[in-house]
Amino acid sequence: MNRPDAYALLCEYVSDISLRRHCLSVEAAMRAYAQKLGHDEETWGVVGLLHDFDYERWSEPADDPLRGSEILRAKGYPEDVITCILSHADYLSDRYPRRTVMEKRLYACDEITGLVTATAILRPTGIGDLTAASVKKKMKAKGFAKGVNRDDVVRGRPTSGSNWTTTSSSSSTR
Ligand SMILES: [Fe+2]
Repeated sequence: MNRPDAYALLCEYVSDISLRRHCLSVEAAMRAYAQKLGHDEETWGVVGLLHDFDYERWSEPADDPLRGSEILRAKGYPEDVITCILSHADYLSDRYPRRTVMEKRLYACDEITGLVTATAILRPTGIGDLTAASVKKKMKAKGFAKGVNRDDVVRGRPTSGSNWTTTSSSSSTR
């Protein structure tokens, strides 16, 4: 397992640029968390990069991310990577509950990256000097980035150090 192979796999299965960008943003967030928490950055990065790689072909809950897990297993990806990706699907929580730090952080990164990206795009300086306060402010703006499911963001947040609240619900993004 390595990053170039994982990226090639992502590009093989995902042609939609928005979905690729989403996966890249989750990879970046996972790498940052791995650095911060002292975990293996390459493993966490690959998890972020591949967490939705099967979604374009199999977007139904009965398939995604189970189809992808079969592909990853056939390619020899580690079980902790596969289980982590499976655990980010709420509908699989009975079979793959989020137990590890990596699993919990993947869920946290999945939805929040959409809000971070949407906030950064509006700024002349982009993401470089974007603050958490700016993202939190946008979190409360009902009309902003409607595709970002605020409930998922709140559900995925770390259990300490956050006072985020939700003010609306919307359909989940990938
Ligand atoms: Fe996702």
